[in-house]
Amino acid sequence: MPISNTQAIILAAGRSSRFNKGQTKLIETICGQQMVLYITKLLDQCNIPITVVTGYQKELVETCIITEHGSSVAFVLQEQQLGTGHALAITQPQWHQDFILVLNADTPLVNKNLIERLYEEHIQTDACISIITTCLSEPHAYGRVITTPDGIVQIIEAKDFTGDSQERYSINAGIYLFNRTFLEKFIDTLSNANKAGEVYLTDLIGIASKNGYTVSTIKAPFDQIRGVNTLQELWAAEQIKRAELIRHWMDQGVRFFAPHTVHIDLEVNIGSGSSIGFGVHLLGNTQIGKNCTVEPFSIIKNSNLHDNVTIYNSSVISNSIIKSQVQVGPFAHVKWAVVEHEAIIGNFVEITRSHIGQYTKAKHHTYLGDAQVEDHVNIGAGTITCNHDGTSKHQTIIKRNAYIGSNNSLVAPITIEEGAFTAAGSTITNDVPANALAIARSHQINKHGYATKLREKKQKNNLSSSAKKHINQHNSSTL
Ligand code: UD1
Ligand code: MG
Repeated sequence: MPISNTQAIILAAGRSSRFNKGQTKLIETICGQQMVLYITKLLDQCNIPITVVTGYQKELVETCIITEHGSSVAFVLQEQQLGTGHALAITQPQWHQDFILVLNADTPLVNKNLIERLYEEHIQTDACISIITTCLSEPHAYGRVITTPDGIVQIIEAKDFTGDSQERYSINAGIYLFNRTFLEKFIDTLSNANKAGEVYLTDLIGIASKNGYTVSTIKAPFDQIRGVNTLQELWAAEQIKRAELIRHWMDQGVRFFAPHTVHIDLEVNIGSGSSIGFGVHLLGNTQIGKNCTVEPFSIIKNSNLHDNVTIYNSSVISNSIIKSQVQVGPFAHVKWAVVEHEAIIGNFVEITRSHIGQYTKAKHHTYLGDAQVEDHVNIGAGTITCNHDGTSKHQTIIKRNAYIGSNNSLVAPITIEEGAFTAAGSTITNDVPANALAIARSHQINKHGYATKLREKKQKNNLSSSAKKHINQHNSSTL
């Protein structure tokens, strides 16, 4: 049944006091996406117009939503956080649809199917309020949905609950579908006469039931409706989301060697036949092609790996494109770079803001920053681009088939032309013409027999210092 005549109010003004972080919990990420966006994006998918109540750190929450949704979301300011009932009441001027869907912003695991089921139940039972519940053996801080012997349904908040706190209860998920006419009639009857001194939105359930209106409930698995009020609950929600993502990619043919140690974000894509090692982090907008291997402890963020790429262990890659058959690592760091097909970036190599050509190799202990390295270039071990002169950065250009000897310093701006060689240990400060050999190192002098002289001198010094020690010891023992 398509959802129609419905608008959503998201309650996002709360102070996040149980987080103890001094920052709104709603912009904390779960698998790379801010918590509040789970709800806003879900409603967007359901084509339901959104109003968000903001208050505490409203700039942070609103910026996050506007960055994702532009101006399509309306905001209402709750200056003082007087409770969820008060937060809903101040949105009254915005109500214009027949059905008002109210959602806590701290319930990130809700899905479209649940919202559709709630709507269907509401229509089919001709209810004036429909809510989502689940049964919990230890309901902790959740509101308990209780039906009195005379059939009145009401929600008792944890602070006001006087029964056995360990007993199994139906709890309130914090997602409600209201008839607008009911809300208009009763929203002003809410009070703050409870232990917390807050205006509880949940009192509307008892009010409806006592006035003979139908209150409908649907059940959902707890894992889909968990609230996030503490850092522990954030951790739990993220574990659930992460496990869901990993199971999804397993179904697509991705092998995870230790799935419980892998962190994966929502927007990550992985091709079939790829394998992901222990402790790997796949973050942000990362795309991994088919048959890739990402070895243990590597971190890949906002990057695109084409097919058959191998990332050896403990490598960090961010904001980069790594084309097919490339090998990176172990212990490599690649950022803001494009690495072309079949290039090899070896151990302890850092590549920054650079383009590395096809079949080019930089296999050991190298830094290439602001470098344009063409195809079939060999970069010797220990080579560095000196790209920064203290104030600005400069380019190093290394053309096709060039061969850079080991331990070179390439002082930018500089161009090594096609097919040129540079000798090991050179500090290259001038451009090298095509097919030339550049040697830029000091001449070696061999002083014959000098090593023997040095050894003899050292031996003599050792002897005289041990004699001095002996005399000192003798003097102190005779005192
Ligand atoms: C709420 C419900 C509880 C339910 C639980 C489900 C109430 C009184 N209790 O409790 O029955 O089991 O959610 O997770 O509603 N907010 C405002 N303005 C305020 C206060 C809160 O906008 O003045 C927002 C918060 O930012 C949050 C949402 O309302 O997104 C819920 O508030 P929270 O304090 O998390 O309520 P819970 O104690 O979790
Ligand atoms: Mg909550």
